[in-house]
Amino acid sequence: MNIGIDKISFHVPNYYLDMTDLANARETDPNKFHIGLGQDQMAIIPETQDIVTLGASAAAKILTDEDKKNIDMVIVGTESSTDFSKSASVIIHELLEIQPFARSFEIKHACYGGTAALQQANDYVTLHPDRKVLVIAADIAKYGLNTGGEPTQGCGAVAMLVTKNPHLLAFNNDSVFYSEDVYDFWRPAGHDYPLVDGHMSNQVYIDSFTRIWEQNKKVNHTDSSDYAALTFHLPYTKMGRKALRAIFSEMSEEEQQRLEARYDEAVVYSRQVGNLYTGSLYLGLMSLLDNGDLAAGDRIGLFSYGSGAVSEFFSMTLMDDYKTYLSIEENQALLSSRQQLSIDEYEAMFNKKLPTDGETYTFSDYTAYAINKISGDIRYYNK
Ligand code: CAA
Repeated sequence: MNIGIDKISFHVPNYYLDMTDLANARETDPNKFHIGLGQDQMAIIPETQDIVTLGASAAAKILTDEDKKNIDMVIVGTESSTDFSKSASVIIHELLEIQPFARSFEIKHACYGGTAALQQANDYVTLHPDRKVLVIAADIAKYGLNTGGEPTQGCGAVAMLVTKNPHLLAFNNDSVFYSEDVYDFWRPAGHDYPLVDGHMSNQVYIDSFTRIWEQNKKVNHTDSSDYAALTFHLPYTKMGRKALRAIFSEMSEEEQQRLEARYDEAVVYSRQVGNLYTGSLYLGLMSLLDNGDLAAGDRIGLFSYGSGAVSEFFSMTLMDDYKTYLSIEENQALLSSRQQLSIDEYEAMFNKKLPTDGETYTFSDYTAYAINKISGDIRYYNK
């Protein structure tokens, strides 16, 4: 019996900034962002939306009433939580009207949380094959205006329904893990934005990948030819490419070109969104499925990286007829219908924050699941 991803969807807010406009405003050559980082647009979120609205919006696209009766767990992987105690999962569980006898909780380790959630879902469904688990990877990547990390911001959520006999992808249960206590990117309590040593984080990412790749070859007796594509966590789309190229010396030129072509297909969406931390790897996976030259039975390698640092490499196999279950037009329309912001509008939206004085404020954002009121430090959402 296969366990895997039966359905997958993503959501981003309705606003974006063009990276040429950001480059011009910061007196930088636009090619540094478009070519040097591999980013064309960046998703921007208004203060009336958060990981709950992103996650609920992504999940609402794929869940049927039948799914909601059979979900036993709602797990949110995030590093953008707004509460140290209550999880976003329990709010999303309620907004989506999932049956009440379910577990709801959040998982954290930087950009790795979504993968931890997905693997936990795999374990649970393996033990309870008739039940389902909803996994959401949702984040808002913000470094601050005029900072080195600014061009690598972004936001969004990916929702995945894990079941037996999945329509899209089956787990191969071949995970390899790597942990190293390092301070490349972290956000201590009280800080609105992460502290980051950008160049060190690039290096730790690449070193983690090359180490885990060697371990994977040893443990799973595979080499690059066993994978139809390798997908990567994408803080910006050049990052995964640098890691992929770090193992090129062990491949023929033809093999390098094959994997780089699949890589290009996997970064189509992220080039238009930017970093969504925990969701980035899975937005890359969706981009590959929607835009890629793949076939049923193909094995896809996934490299998940969370600064600090925890990484995991695992593979999934494409199911027969998986193409029938994709929502390619809907995904493309979500990105192409967004409103472009000017630099002034972006900076104003960036600086707006929800009040924290405990008083009552109402908002008129009529997007599905947006925050419509805050009162006594409780967020109220459109349903
Ligand atoms: N034309 C074309 N390319 C240009 C260019 C131009 N005019 N000017 C510069 N470039 C290239 C550079 O050569 C460089 O390419 P390589 O990396 O291939 O050498 C690239 O553009 C970036 O240039 P810099 O290194 O000079 O850029 P920077 O000093 O502004 O830093 C950054 C870039 C470190 C990514 C910074 O934006 C940052 O700190 N971002 C946040 C941290 C991050 O995303 N880290 C990634 C790994 S950690 C992780 O993955 C977890 C996570 O999600 C955060």
